[in-house]
Amino acid sequence: MKTITLNTKDHISNIFIGEKFENFRDYVDPERVIIVTDKNVFKLYKDRFEGLKTIVIGTGEDIKSFKTVEYIIEKLIELKADRNTFLLGVGGGVVTDIAGFVASIYLRGIEFGFVSTTLLSQVDASVGGKNGVNFSGLKNIVGVFSQPKFVFCDISMLKTLPEREIRSGLAEIIKHGVIGDPEILEQLDKEYEKIKSLDQKFLEKIIYNSVSVKSKIVSIDERESGQRKILNFGHTIGHAIELTEDLTHGEAIGIGMVVALGISIEKCYIDPNVFIQIEKLLKKYGLPTELPKDIDKVMKVISFDKKNEKDGLNFILIKGLREPVIEKMDLDEIAKLIKKK
Ligand code: GLY
Repeated sequence: MKTITLNTKDHISNIFIGEKFENFRDYVDPERVIIVTDKNVFKLYKDRFEGLKTIVIGTGEDIKSFKTVEYIIEKLIELKADRNTFLLGVGGGVVTDIAGFVASIYLRGIEFGFVSTTLLSQVDASVGGKNGVNFSGLKNIVGVFSQPKFVFCDISMLKTLPEREIRSGLAEIIKHGVIGDPEILEQLDKEYEKIKSLDQKFLEKIIYNSVSVKSKIVSIDERESGQRKILNFGHTIGHAIELTEDLTHGEAIGIGMVVALGISIEKCYIDPNVFIQIEKLLKKYGLPTELPKDIDKVMKVISFDKKNEKDGLNFILIKGLREPVIEKMDLDEIAKLIKKK
């Protein structure tokens, strides 16, 4: 097991990579714990929930709503949750986002932690303290910055994930490689078989390296007033593609990164070899790299998604590996550069 301590202004959060769900009793008195999980995780690991107070929610992005928040709060009241209660979110990004949000508002805030069960949430969603829900068609428009006491990245639970979900997490790992640690890219290129076979030791190392990149950034800028924006590399376009196409988050983000790298070439920021290296790696892991045909549809979604950013979008470009830059760009400029490709 490897540990990362994420220090923010007024909080310390420990991320335990390789720790197992069942060991949560070593970190918090089980009598205090109420679990929030989804129906898939509950079904797959039913025996591990025996004797534990558990609230089961549905799956999918639509579940990240105020309706589910109300449902969880009703259950917490029924279970007589008080200030001493510890809310443990066990699942992927949807569960951790919503459990963290409820814990932050119930009784004005109770302690919480996560057992992160998908590769995507282990390297991204469950780390960094962004918790919230979608509203009025806008992703994560309501939420809080609030750090969990701990996050377990239970690698043994990845075994039950569909391959497509593993790929989705790999895109975020590749993102962390580009913006913060090129060694991640080399390791992924070299150790394809170890990823395919879900080699526990290798996964522990690659998740550790990936979370290290994110933790360093979050510890400097928890509230995304500056530096944290670079974690959105590939996301401006990626989020829009995720909404318009039948793609997972990582698949869409992979395409978003390719587009951002293409624009970085157009602006003469990078050598085309950087683009080629990343595109090759994405393809190696079966991630799509082609933009959807209907670019105007994608641009329309971005303008809706970013309607609150009036003075231009903060677009993340690359000046080299480990050299992301935040650039103010307007939609027309982005569209023009994309179409030029
Ligand atoms: N997923 C980007 C962030 O946590 O800031």
